[in-house]
Amino acid sequence: MKFAILNGSPKGTAESVSMQYILYIKKKHPEHEYVFLDIAQRIKVIEKNGEKFNDIIETIKESDGVIWVFPVYVMLVCSQYKRFIELIFERNKEHVFKDKYTAVLSTSIHFYDHTAQNYLHAICDDLGMKYVGYFPADSWDLLYPKRRARWLLFGEQFIKAIETKQPTTQHYQKAQIREFNYEPGDFNQEKIDTQGKKILIVSEDTSDSTNLGKMVNQFVKSFSNNIELVNIYDIDIKGPCIGCIHCGYNHECIYKDKDGFTDFWTNRVMKADILIFASIIKDRYLSSRWKLIYDRAFFNNHTPTLIGKQLGYIISGPLSQNHNIKEMLMAHIEYQDSNFVDGVTDEFGDSSHIDSLLYNLGKQAVNFSVTDYIKPISFLGEAAMKSFRDDVYGRDRFVFLADHEYYESHGVYDTFPQNDERAKKMNAKLIPLLKIDKVRKKINMKQEFLKPFKKVLEDPRK
Ligand SMILES: Cc1cc2nc3c(=O)[nH]c(=O)nc-3n(C[C@H](O)[C@H](O)[C@H](O)COP(=O)(O)O)c2cc1C
Repeated sequence: MKFAILNGSPKGTAESVSMQYILYIKKKHPEHEYVFLDIAQRIKVIEKNGEKFNDIIETIKESDGVIWVFPVYVMLVCSQYKRFIELIFERNKEHVFKDKYTAVLSTSIHFYDHTAQNYLHAICDDLGMKYVGYFPADSWDLLYPKRRARWLLFGEQFIKAIETKQPTTQHYQKAQIREFNYEPGDFNQEKIDTQGKKILIVSEDTSDSTNLGKMVNQFVKSFSNNIELVNIYDIDIKGPCIGCIHCGYNHECIYKDKDGFTDFWTNRVMKADILIFASIIKDRYLSSRWKLIYDRAFFNNHTPTLIGKQLGYIISGPLSQNHNIKEMLMAHIEYQDSNFVDGVTDEFGDSSHIDSLLYNLGKQAVNFSVTDYIKPISFLGEAAMKSFRDDVYGRDRFVFLADHEYYESHGVYDTFPQNDERAKKMNAKLIPLLKIDKVRKKINMKQEFLKPFKKVLEDPRK
């Protein structure tokens, strides 16, 4: 059998951890042919040179199975791989993928690997592929005999699925895109005073020819003072993240002096009080250009850079049909310690309704910013920081030295393993008591939980 291996690591086959997993399957099953295609690393030439792109398409056409292999980058695939996926649709090559058996392997530290896997699953369904399954490996799984055996079994099941023409289920409906032309109305409301708050809109489009551009421009009109608007194509970005991890030592990107991204992020994004990110939906995520921004912002590694900011979204496209995107956007806000204001899309209602939502977004953002309102985080942010904390404290400390220093100096390790004084006192008092049967029978745990709340509710000073 012939397998097309679509490598989504910017490091290429030679240096990619993910590809070691494929090399292992190859070692165990040398009877098959494996064609390694370094998609992410060579995206520039693949996009520019039609022949190179067509060669890849030809290899896929001739293959019995397609394996998507990638490192998780900021909850998804890297921007380069995302661009390749966009090219498949832009160049109408979906038919080549139709009915091909496929499996998906990611390697990562399990930080939002499920959203990356969901993304690729939806893409496979959109392409009409026979999706056999996914394998969300931890980067180091191959080094452990039991985990290695699990991976081999997965590979063999995939091979068997093709041999036996196993039926496969589809999980994602095609998104329905509404035909709708947003026409902004005359602005006749009282303009919003920014009250000294800095507002920055970072947008995919700033023209008046698309719904997104028009929504963004209408939003700008809501304010009586100047606010900043940046088109993401105007940011000086020389290249995508290449996964070198030089930033791990001191939070400095290797592109720092070569392009304007570090300056953009540090001096514009990080200095704003209110951020509005505006994008279209392209396939099952935002555009690859937006992904490029998220990836390049990784030079700050696992430290939050948007603490205390108000964040809103203006989106054109079927966001409500892509819950996976919402989850990533919300998680990003939460682990950055910022606050979600609202997301306005062009999916529902008429133009005047959208006008009112945009106005409200501006009003709410300023109100929240002035009152320093930050919602508590949910599981998305809580789990994110705990998983970062464990990894940076442990196995990845030597890689992310700058994170480790930040975590030490900013109290991230204070709650680790457990430095919660209130919890310590409670455990010291209650655990010995709860070992006594008589006490266990007598104690009403529900009432015990409420005791500290009573103090707050009954104390007029609180
Ligand atoms: C820019 C960047 C972003 C990353 N984002 C994530 C992430 O969101 N979740 C995660 O679990 N791992 C993340 N990682 C870790 C990689 O997924 C992991 O190290 C992977 O095994 C690398 O595979 P490769 O050598 O094939 O590129 C990231 C690494 C880099 C360089």
